[in-house]
Amino acid sequence: MTHDEHTVSVDTKAILGLQFPTDPRWVNLAQLSLADVLSDHAYCEQKAAATCMSLIQRYSQKEELVTALAPIVTEEWGHFRLVLAELHKRGLSLGVQRKDEYVVALIQFCQKGGAEEGRLLDQLLMMAMIEARSCERFKRLSEGLNDEYLRKFYRRFMESEAGHYTLFIELADTYINKEKVRARWNEWLAYEAEVMNGLELRGDRIH
Ligand SMILES: [Fe+2]
Ligand SMILES: [Fe+2]
Repeated sequence: MTHDEHTVSVDTKAILGLQFPTDPRWVNLAQLSLADVLSDHAYCEQKAAATCMSLIQRYSQKEELVTALAPIVTEEWGHFRLVLAELHKRGLSLGVQRKDEYVVALIQFCQKGGAEEGRLLDQLLMMAMIEARSCERFKRLSEGLNDEYLRKFYRRFMESEAGHYTLFIELADTYINKEKVRARWNEWLAYEAEVMNGLELRGDRIH
């Protein structure tokens, strides 16, 4: 069994620890707003690539981080191009980026001051969080959309983001005491569940 097969065979909550499962109706709403979902998804990939690039700049002295994130930039940018191609194939355009309330709320949870270690930890865990939730949403799309082609399309993203989630947690473990990482991760999971619970269920976006 490959890593990906293992990842997808296990329930999302069990593997990702998410505390707030997405409402099953979300995929039905998303189905009605595919153009918006694809555009929003494209921007999610663009932001993932851009954030990895800025982490490389900010933590250029951390060799493992630079080495681990360099290929992720390429991969996320590849995702952006795949989604952009999918938009174009459908006669759609990228459009204007919406305000990402989910990410704005997560940024608020990041430590702004204090020791560098704490700030690095939160940046890595915020990325892990977004990857985990995206993975869960892609799983919903890969299981619930009517179109078989799109189900496969989203399955690929789901597998990829599951791998990224793991990578960000492992990177945190590389630099920071594992117990500290676990404790803070549990706080992130609880906070993210609150955020998700507070956000309106909308089918025109990934989060
Ligand atoms: Fe991605
Ligand atoms: Fe990713």
